Amino acid sequence: MRYSWLSVLLVLTVASLTGLATPLPQPWNDISVKHAWKTVPDNWECLGPPPIGITIDLYIALQPKEENVLMEALYEVSTPGRPKYGKHLSKEEVAKLVEPHPDTLELVHSWLAHHGVHSSSISTSHGGGWLTVTDVPVYRANELLSASYQLYRLAGTNDTAILRTVGYALPKVLHAHVKTVAPTTFFASARTLQLTPHGHSSRAAGAPEKAASRGPVSVLSSRDEDTTPEELRWLYKTYTYKPTALTKNAIGIVGLNNEFPSPTDLDMFMSVFRPDTDPDEVTFTVELVNGGQYDPSWPGTEASLNMQYAQAIANPTPHIFYSIGGGLRWSLANNEPIAGDEYLMWMAHLVPKEKIPQTMSVSYGVNEKDVPAEYAWSVCGMFMQLGARGVSILFSSGDNGVGVGNCQDTSGRVRFIPKFPATCPYITSVGGTTSSLPEVAAELSGGGFSNYFARPAYQNVVVPAFLRSLGNQYDGMYNPGGRGVPDVSAQALNFVIVTNTNPFRVNGTSCATPTVAGIISLLNDYLISEGKDPLGFLNPWLYTTDEGMFGLNDIKSGSNPGCGTDGFTAIPGWDPVTGLGTPDFFELLHVLLRTRTGPGNQRRTFRDVFNKSDTAATRDAKGMDEYFLINSSTRSTPAYKHD
Ligand SMILES: *[C@@H]1O[C@H](CO)[C@@H](O)[C@H](O)[C@H]1NC(C)=O
Ligand SMILES: *[C@@H]1O[C@H](CO)[C@@H](O)[C@H](O)[C@H]1NC(C)=O
Ligand SMILES: *[C@@H]1O[C@H](CO)[C@@H](O)[C@H](O)[C@H]1NC(C)=O
Ligand SMILES: *[C@@H]1O[C@H](CO)[C@@H](O)[C@H](O)[C@H]1NC(C)=O
Repeated sequence: MRYSWLSVLLVLTVASLTGLATPLPQPWNDISVKHAWKTVPDNWECLGPPPIGITIDLYIALQPKEENVLMEALYEVSTPGRPKYGKHLSKEEVAKLVEPHPDTLELVHSWLAHHGVHSSSISTSHGGGWLTVTDVPVYRANELLSASYQLYRLAGTNDTAILRTVGYALPKVLHAHVKTVAPTTFFASARTLQLTPHGHSSRAAGAPEKAASRGPVSVLSSRDEDTTPEELRWLYKTYTYKPTALTKNAIGIVGLNNEFPSPTDLDMFMSVFRPDTDPDEVTFTVELVNGGQYDPSWPGTEASLNMQYAQAIANPTPHIFYSIGGGLRWSLANNEPIAGDEYLMWMAHLVPKEKIPQTMSVSYGVNEKDVPAEYAWSVCGMFMQLGARGVSILFSSGDNGVGVGNCQDTSGRVRFIPKFPATCPYITSVGGTTSSLPEVAAELSGGGFSNYFARPAYQNVVVPAFLRSLGNQYDGMYNPGGRGVPDVSAQALNFVIVTNTNPFRVNGTSCATPTVAGIISLLNDYLISEGKDPLGFLNPWLYTTDEGMFGLNDIKSGSNPGCGTDGFTAIPGWDPVTGLGTPDFFELLHVLLRTRTGPGNQRRTFRDVFNKSDTAATRDAKGMDEYFLINSSTRSTPAYKHD
């Protein structure tokens, strides 16, 4: 059943006109729509109103005192060459920049008070730029927002319902002060946020018995086309690097959907693919957010993939798994909706902490067009806060090329469908490749241009270059002024993982993201072990690096079909299929040695990190006939080779 927002609003207006003895005082009764869909979003069915007594927590993003000061600060600390490069902000410094004007606070508080919301249920949150209003009865939320909250469920599933409204309105006087209110019109569940594993995983041959103890499990893998940690570590040249900043550096892995990794699976995976690691260091910690759960006896594919490949690259760096509630496995019996909002709850959890992992890997996303723009801007603003504090955030770019389905809008026009948060300019989006020597774009690699976010300055050279080469192909199907996606890429097909002690193969940019995050985490390890600041928000640095094409393997062929088209084509330089290319750890570290530590000042020199005798020994042991020598003339020739 579909409700039209307009008729809901009409009903509400009539109800409030007839239901009130005296008219509301100005300015609260002069309302206008903040955001509304024309109809219930596709694939969602309305289950009617929630049970009596259900309450909702509302998150209200407020306009900061000064627009853009956080963004400016972010670029100051993230752009090489600027005086404050690397001087990341503290929690308190960020809070100052996002602080709302006292008038904004006063206005919003008096509006809430007018509707009988007690001040004790209102708190400042999300680093200071938001208000959280807890336990608002649904009838009161309806009244506050001129909304009609109903239970919605993805059609054709038995998933737990979400509590949303097709539209909401605010007093006109608040529009300049309130950026967004959530949860309102963002219809998403853990299921719709999930990108991959693509096309479901296929069982790899020769499932091993549950490994009783750590030991050689030889049955895992290996077809030629399989991607394993060993191959990735050669391909991206992290092979000999040993992390040392173990008490200071950490990597975070985000899990939605109540999907968890299992320590047993991880141990099994690492015993096969990283037998050099210390079993005591093959471990992770779990932080529960928004009622998230952790039950390692029910491991999930996505979570296993993310944890195993981050570990494959970055072990023994400490790994933190964030299990963010809002999942589907419980409350099926009752009618209670999923609480909260995954991204906002994750941010509310992280931002108050003094220490946040320097690298974050997130393999979840949703069609940008299904996200209300004002909500996307507000969530993206939260990622900006993390970036300013020195966190590198990596998101998958999506697994549907330029878009899934026929991509026709209501007028029948084809519009490519990029994914959010990949389109947020303040995170690093990761696309997919396959093959080696040379790597080529994986067809599933999500890429394109945002319809919500304008092209950021760091893309001002490379994106117009791509558009010139594209010419008028696809005119009208994408936004040429939008933020281009992805930024970088990595292998994305035939990853071998272990879930519930069984090996699987999976595809998707979900494979590429923890791989790149692992590599970034190693770079952070190096910087931190040298007493330097971590990389933080990567893009201004990555796109600078691209000028000399150092540190990234440019991917020059392949395409990302979708929306009934051939999609974009990977060309020399940046492209909306593979971004700038895949990481070359060896070269990226070279760049950091030149620009960050300075020659002669390192505690660990290049030779220490790429220990030649160690590398040679490993090479001989592995029977690899080519490897990366400490030889700058190898820069342009990837040394990886299949046996
Ligand atoms: C949902 O649950 C009902 C009742 O248990 C069952 O008949 C139906 O097949 C389920 N539908 C799906 C899509 O799982
Ligand atoms: C992954 O992609 C490859 C290449 O397209 C395909 O052969 C394989 O079946 C896919 N695997 C899964 C699990 O979808
Ligand atoms: C380099 O590796 C060799 C062999 O593994 C080892 O004996 C040597 O101590 C290492 N050197 C450094 C500087 O780490
Ligand atoms: C570097 O590599 C080139 C090409 O493989 C080779 O000719 C040269 O001898 C190498 N230099 C060193 C110092 O190993």
